[in-house]
Amino acid sequence: MISPQQDKPLVLIVDDNPTNIDILVTALQEDYRLGISKSGARARAYAEKHHPLLILLDIMMPNMNGYEVCRLLKDSPETADIAVIFITALHETASKTKGLDIGAVDYITKPFNTAEVKARVRTHVELRRIQEELNDQNRILKRKVEEKTALTQKILRLTIQSMSQMAESRDPYTAGHQQRVSQLACAIAQKMAMTAEDIDTIRVAGLLHDIGKFRIPSDILNRPGKILSVEYEFLKIHPQVAYDLLKDIPFPGPVSEIVYQHHEKLDGSGYPRGLTRSGILPEARILTVADVIEAMSSHRPYRPALGTDIALAEIVKHKGDHFDPDVVEGCLAVFREDHFQFHDRS
Ligand SMILES: [Fe+2]
Ligand SMILES: [Fe+2]
Repeated sequence: MISPQQDKPLVLIVDDNPTNIDILVTALQEDYRLGISKSGARARAYAEKHHPLLILLDIMMPNMNGYEVCRLLKDSPETADIAVIFITALHETASKTKGLDIGAVDYITKPFNTAEVKARVRTHVELRRIQEELNDQNRILKRKVEEKTALTQKILRLTIQSMSQMAESRDPYTAGHQQRVSQLACAIAQKMAMTAEDIDTIRVAGLLHDIGKFRIPSDILNRPGKILSVEYEFLKIHPQVAYDLLKDIPFPGPVSEIVYQHHEKLDGSGYPRGLTRSGILPEARILTVADVIEAMSSHRPYRPALGTDIALAEIVKHKGDHFDPDVVEGCLAVFREDHFQFHDRS
């Protein structure tokens, strides 16, 4: 249980002169808990241990003067927020401004006027209390914002995951394709030293890149045998469909544009817009390579899995005309140096 005494704010008096200490104690003992230090070194130790709300600090003390004590208190994160009021002789005008310059909030002049001492201490104690209340409220607000942000990110992550799974549910042969493409694209982006933000954008774009396939009839998606040219033309709408679905969602990065571009090739032979080189985003170039590798490595209704080696040979063959050379090199390094393996959703 907290006694009424413990409820009172703690004020530290720092002075080497017993008469001054007596006067200040008499003036303040009714309203405050008081700590007393007779030297700068002891004052510092006391402040670090007990963290008073306010310190009344004499300037002229042996060994360590009040300025030095104040500087040390202000330099330490543990004690920087403690309000310091300097005690100064009436004629020391220069010392008053110097004290304020190094972080004191006020000064009290000697000889003491008890009413003035009480009033100044009361004012600054009250200010410190308000400041601490504000700090507490800020901390609570910050925590609430962090909780909300974490919740929003979780909702976004689960929504993306659901959209991704929904798109694949009509096409059992490619279940997990977007997840695996996303993994490989992120590994390549990491190898190419892209920023964490860019890698996250690639992760999301990878998870959603084929959601436009929900418009493609499932008998086209699942039919064994080679795809007919008319079916292929129909299949080519899926980046546009995905882009239309995603373009108004305020993702942190250009997710919809990357998805739109994931079948474009450097020489302009890709679809749907036949973009060339600088028209294709770096993130989309990575996604394109990851997409080809995953698709060729996996089983399809019209052919068995070709394996990673054949897939890697394909991107090497088209390095520079279809695929970005740096991305191809990054992809090779991911498999050969890091021994990348696809893993399904846990
Ligand atoms: Fe695609
Ligand atoms: Fe794909």
